[in-house]
Amino acid sequence: MKAIRRLIVLLIGTWLLGHVAAATNHVEFKPGQIWTDTDGVPINAHGGGTLFHNQMYYWYGEIKTGKTWTPECNRSWGGTRVESVGISCYSSKDLLNWKNEGTVLPAVQDNPQHELHKRKVLERPKVLFNQTTRKFVMWMHVDSEDYQLAHAGVAISDSPIGPFRYVGSSRPDGAMSRDMTVFQDDDGKAYLFSSSESNATMHISLLTDDYLQPAGKFIRVFEKRFMEAPAVFKHQGRYYLMASDCTGWQPNAARSAVADSIWGPWQELGNPCRGPEAAITFRGQSAYILPVAEQPGTFIFVGDRWNQFDLADSRYLWLPLRFTAQGFEVPWHDTWRLPLAATR
Ligand code: DGJ
Repeated sequence: MKAIRRLIVLLIGTWLLGHVAAATNHVEFKPGQIWTDTDGVPINAHGGGTLFHNQMYYWYGEIKTGKTWTPECNRSWGGTRVESVGISCYSSKDLLNWKNEGTVLPAVQDNPQHELHKRKVLERPKVLFNQTTRKFVMWMHVDSEDYQLAHAGVAISDSPIGPFRYVGSSRPDGAMSRDMTVFQDDDGKAYLFSSSESNATMHISLLTDDYLQPAGKFIRVFEKRFMEAPAVFKHQGRYYLMASDCTGWQPNAARSAVADSIWGPWQELGNPCRGPEAAITFRGQSAYILPVAEQPGTFIFVGDRWNQFDLADSRYLWLPLRFTAQGFEVPWHDTWRLPLAATR
């Protein structure tokens, strides 16, 4: 009898513990620390981007899970991999507490010819909402295991939480595309920024009005500067870019730039990171710059701290931006909260 009572107490205790963990309410950002979702499970959305739609934020990212290995073809440059699972989506009203909305674009399990087959590369998803077509359009880096395909892929959905239907991929404007992002301007026009020409030079391509393909107009910028991980935002009429150097999963000094027009000229501003390990982007890399909808002028650096030997244990670096007379900075904080005191 006693044993049964003990078992019941143990079961109730375990259930309660699980639910207390699930109910954890995050009240501050803790860059680099494990960040759990509303179920108490670590958030799995790497190399991602966000979308604000109907008073809700959505965070899309690469699902990194399972064993990390180095394919023979990537051995020379340390290109470790996990099997691709697909693209995740989380939703939140406060940017701190995220609900897992599931896998909105799954990898393909059984057809090795398919571009989204689990052995291939699916990275850096970014989603835009097209006001005219009322579609959610996802752009992403689609590649072969050895990163030689260098394509940008597109998927489309009627809902921010998917499912997304894969449309296909291409080399935008006939040029290589690896690390990429998309940027939607105030006038509804959207642009693809991608590391092109063997990652040496960035291309900025105008997208068609439905955002589904390049419109045919593009420029080459930051020639031979080997920039990856582009993140773009607009503040007080100026366009800003943050990016990394090109060193695989290894961290490096971030880059930043400003322009009065998306078509340039783009002026480089240097590494915007400030604080310990700023010279290596706090052991991380840019993924996105998030405009806080409720606080115009507030932007958050969304970065990844990759663990190249256990990619599933990669972490996130979310840090507030600070504007300066010349441009912007990303100062380190062990912890921080919104709203921020106004900068400029
Ligand atoms: C650096 C890129 O920024 C990442 O997205 C990923 O492609 C790694 N290289 C792979 O080594």
